[in-house]
Amino acid sequence: MSERHQTSGGGGDRSRSFGFTPVAPEEKQKRVNDVFARVADRYDLMNDIMSGGLHRLWKDDLIAWLSPPRGPQPFTLLDVAGGTGDVAMRFLEAAGRGARCVLCDISADMLRVGQRRTAAKATQNVRFVQGNAEALPISDATVDAYTIAFGIRNVTHLDRALQEAFRVLRPGGRFLCLEFSDVQVPWLDAVYERYSFSAIPVIGAAVAGSADPYRYLVESIRRFPDQESFAGLIRAAGFERVKYRNLSGGIAALHSGWRL
Ligand SMILES: C[S@@+](CC[C@H](N)C(=O)[O-])C[C@H]1O[C@@H](n2cnc3c(N)ncnc32)[C@H](O)[C@@H]1O
Repeated sequence: MSERHQTSGGGGDRSRSFGFTPVAPEEKQKRVNDVFARVADRYDLMNDIMSGGLHRLWKDDLIAWLSPPRGPQPFTLLDVAGGTGDVAMRFLEAAGRGARCVLCDISADMLRVGQRRTAAKATQNVRFVQGNAEALPISDATVDAYTIAFGIRNVTHLDRALQEAFRVLRPGGRFLCLEFSDVQVPWLDAVYERYSFSAIPVIGAAVAGSADPYRYLVESIRRFPDQESFAGLIRAAGFERVKYRNLSGGIAALHSGWRL
């Protein structure tokens, strides 16, 4: 039985673990921040190598499901744990001229890389904000959509982050989460398990100079609730019409919910 299955009731003990390592809840975020401070400059390159470019297709799926308005009407996306700006840039390319993106991330290092990238691509209308998904520096009911891609797995208290997503969305607003999930195809699960635990830390050591952050990455994926359990947590935060789609056999999943 995998680690994920032992925690699939909502992953309540996730706050006490950093990957597979037991930690005090107040210690977990510090360790996560240290991971992203260490990998920020190599983050985009590593994403492409580790996923074979698949993360790009999954992010395209996220924006396609969001389907932002293409007209001039105002539309604000809050992209939480937005890191180096992949989702923000895709959103602004897909949306109309009334679109604005607020990119919020806890890591100053990831934000620095994101600011550099968006400036290099002359991307307009993105505002960078440093903040914690569990206590967003955003007023109540002010955003039209909230996205979080490969970010929610890193927060200490999932329920607090989901409650914050609900709070900042306007009534009628959309929540979308892209996250690694539970592989649904048995042969793929076996191959993916081997690849994750054997190859990814080795690639991390070779390309980014350290295996530890990538060991955490793999372990944290295993500790995250499966598709159904996570959908239940989203409903518990108050969202309605909660649905999900598996991507690449469940290696990743997109969850959607509405604040109605
Ligand atoms: C795997 S990266 C994902 C970045 C980007 N969304 C993407 O898909 O490429 C995870 C991001 O979550 C951020 N993060 C971790 N804990 C956070 C928290 N509690 N609040 C906000 N951001 C957080 C990290 O700093 C990092 O930038």
